[in-house]
Amino acid sequence: MAETAGTAGTGRVDTVRLQMLAQAYQRSAALFAAVEIDLFTAVEKGAGSVEALAEALGISPRNAARIVPVLLALGLLERRDGRLANAADVQRFLVRGEPSYAGPWMLFTKPRWTEWGRLAEHLKAQDTRPLGMYESFTVDDARKYHQATYSVGMGAGRRFVREVDLAGRKKLLDLGGGSGAYSINAVQKWTGLRAVVFDLPPVAVVAREFIQQNGVADRVEAMAGDFTRDAFPPGCDVAVMASNLPQYDAAIIAEVIARTFAALAPGGEMHLIGEMLDDDGAGPIGPALWGLSEALFHSTGRAHTEAECLGYFRAAGFVDLTVKPFIPGVLTRVTGRKPG
Ligand SMILES: C[S@@+](CC[C@H](N)C(=O)[O-])C[C@H]1O[C@@H](n2cnc3c(N)ncnc32)[C@H](O)[C@@H]1O
Repeated sequence: MAETAGTAGTGRVDTVRLQMLAQAYQRSAALFAAVEIDLFTAVEKGAGSVEALAEALGISPRNAARIVPVLLALGLLERRDGRLANAADVQRFLVRGEPSYAGPWMLFTKPRWTEWGRLAEHLKAQDTRPLGMYESFTVDDARKYHQATYSVGMGAGRRFVREVDLAGRKKLLDLGGGSGAYSINAVQKWTGLRAVVFDLPPVAVVAREFIQQNGVADRVEAMAGDFTRDAFPPGCDVAVMASNLPQYDAAIIAEVIARTFAALAPGGEMHLIGEMLDDDGAGPIGPALWGLSEALFHSTGRAHTEAECLGYFRAAGFVDLTVKPFIPGVLTRVTGRKPG
C-alpha cells in the first residue's frame, strides 16, 4: 500500500512525510554504523548506559550520546529497568557470534550507497546489460556477496523445507543458488535427495566452500553456468529459483521458466521465490526498490507482479499453480507442476 500524504494530525497537508523520506538515508547510516562498531553486541554483553557503551566501543561519550537516542527512536534499542537493551529482532540478528547473526546481510547494499546518490543520472543512462552487476563479477566479489546472502539464506532455506514437502523427490535444481542455502537445507532434511546449485562460474567456486563447510559435498554439487543461456542438468524433479527475479526482464524470466519446465522430469515441480509486486504494481516497497536498484547496474531487470509470474508458469506449461507469501512483504512463492 502506498504511504499517504503527510498531515501530521492537523488535517492540513504538510512537509513532514517528505522530510522523513528525504532524510531516510540517515537512518540507514545509523544502522550501518551500529552494526559496524558492534554496538548491539556491546549492549548484549552488558553495556547498559551511554557511558558504558562509549567505553566498550572506544568512542567518545558525546558520540555515544548522539547515536543512542537515534537507535532508541528507531526502536532498535529499548530501555528496560533503566538500562539499554536490544529490541527482539536486534538481539536475534545483530549480536555477533550468534548462529542467527545477519550483520553481513544488513550491510549488503551499503556498497551501493554512492550510486544510489547518483540515481537520477542512472535513470537517464542506457539500460541494456542483461547480466547487469554480474558482468564483471569476480570470485572475491562472489565470496563477499554470499557471506551476506548466507547469513539470511539459511533461514530462508529452513523456511522452504518446513513449507514444501520434497519427500520422494530425487534431485533438486537450485537455479542461481548462491551459497547453496536452499540445497543444503533440503538434503539435510531429505536424506534421499541430491541437489545441484547452478550459478555463475565465480559463484560456483564459493558455493562449493559453503557446501563443504556444511558437510554435504557428497550430495550437493555446484555447476557453473549462466541460467539465461546454458543447458540445465538432466534428471531433476524439483527446481527452485530464489531471490533473483528483479534482476531480469520479462522475456528472460519467461525463457528461464520455460527451459526449466523442459528440463524437469514429468511430474516435477518448480518454485519461484521472488521479490514480487502486487498485481496493482503499487508495492510492496521492498520488491519495488529491488527493481529500481537494477537501474544502478544498467541491467534490463525490473520488478515483476505476481500475475506476471503466474503467466510465465502458465505459458511454460506448468499446472496446479499456487501463489503464497513466503516472507510477507519481501518474498512470494509461485509453484507449478509439470504434468506427469
Ligand atoms: C541474491 S542471490 C540468491 C542466492 C540464493 N538463491 C538464496 O536465495 O540464498 C542471487 C543469485 O542468483 C545468481 N544468478 C543471477 N543471475 C544468474 C545467471 N544468469 N545464471 C546463474 N546464476 C545467476 C547470482 O549469482 C546469485 O548467486
